[in-house]
Amino acid sequence: MKIIGTGSAHPSCVVTNDMLAQFLDTSDEWIVTRTGIKERRLLSDEELKDLAVDAARKALDSAGMQAKDIDFIICSNVVNEYVTPSLSCLIHEAVQASCPCVDINAACTGFIYALQMAEAYQTAGMAKNILIVCAEEPTRMVDWSDRSTCVLFGDGAGAVVVTEGTDLKAIKTTNASKTEVLVQKRVLQPTPYATKKSENLPLVMLGQEVFKNAVSSSVRDLKEVVSKAGMELTDIDYFLLHQANIRIVEFVGHHLDMPKEKFPHNVEFYGNTSSASIPMLLDEMNARGDLKKGHKLAFSAFGAGFTTGACVLEWSMEK
Ligand code: UT7
Repeated sequence: MKIIGTGSAHPSCVVTNDMLAQFLDTSDEWIVTRTGIKERRLLSDEELKDLAVDAARKALDSAGMQAKDIDFIICSNVVNEYVTPSLSCLIHEAVQASCPCVDINAACTGFIYALQMAEAYQTAGMAKNILIVCAEEPTRMVDWSDRSTCVLFGDGAGAVVVTEGTDLKAIKTTNASKTEVLVQKRVLQPTPYATKKSENLPLVMLGQEVFKNAVSSSVRDLKEVVSKAGMELTDIDYFLLHQANIRIVEFVGHHLDMPKEKFPHNVEFYGNTSSASIPMLLDEMNARGDLKKGHKLAFSAFGAGFTTGACVLEWSMEK
């Protein structure tokens, strides 16, 4: 598999920490010190599907492809306004694709799961050109009076087009069956037979537990995929980690004994955008010209589940 196109899209509404401090008992100082986040983008009059379609079109353009060239669409999404049809169907309709499509929910690890599925589809001969779109609105999952969660998230979409190739050197995904550390529940339509009590609960997160799991799983997964790729950690030019918290990124770098410069980040401007965070960062770096042919990249993510995943690939896209 190889990545031949990238794209991203952000909502226009920028919300700074000072804006949050107007209605929450919080401060720019607390949020920056604990998370690195300075501002985030929030959906206001747009729908998530608008961002998803925008990111998808940009990735197709960047790959020099049209929707008719795509054999499969995978959309990673945790929540959006449509329960059905899936977000991938909405993207499919908007870009006028003619291939099958599916949504996956592996929480913040969705991009790595989608890459792995894409590789499997290619290996099985079921698809050659695959559009992966990660589109998320986690700001609609949190309680906006809970300062411990609502300050952390932002909305956004990132996309890639992949085709056959040998750039992907190693990939892994895991699940640790820790469903209580990060969870949100919603009420479904009642039926005459549903007798159990249902509750609409905003996102509940055991922050420190998630933090510890995130650092240890990222360190473990990165070591494993780099070794599986037949490389040393020092061979990796950039480690693109799920952008949840700058301290998690720094801790992982410290545990791997790698220099800070190898850990690009943009969490300060977007907050935690769930599975969209790595493809958004990748697209930003690609657009800036940071990525050179032959660069070795490692991705690593973690999320509710507790899902984790990582991969190593060699960059071959010419800008
Ligand atoms: O995609 C995966 C998503 N999640 C994550 O990656 C989150 C991982 N966890 C974290 O990043 C950190 O645990 C947090 C940033 C969420 C919290 O940082 P912490 O250093 O673990 O803080 P804490 O939860 O131990 O809270 C320390 C204090 C508490 O006050 P008291 O009890 O010491 O008086 C909190 O009530 O900070 C308080 N606090 C806040 N204060 C100001 C919590 N949120 C805020 C806030 N502003 N926004």
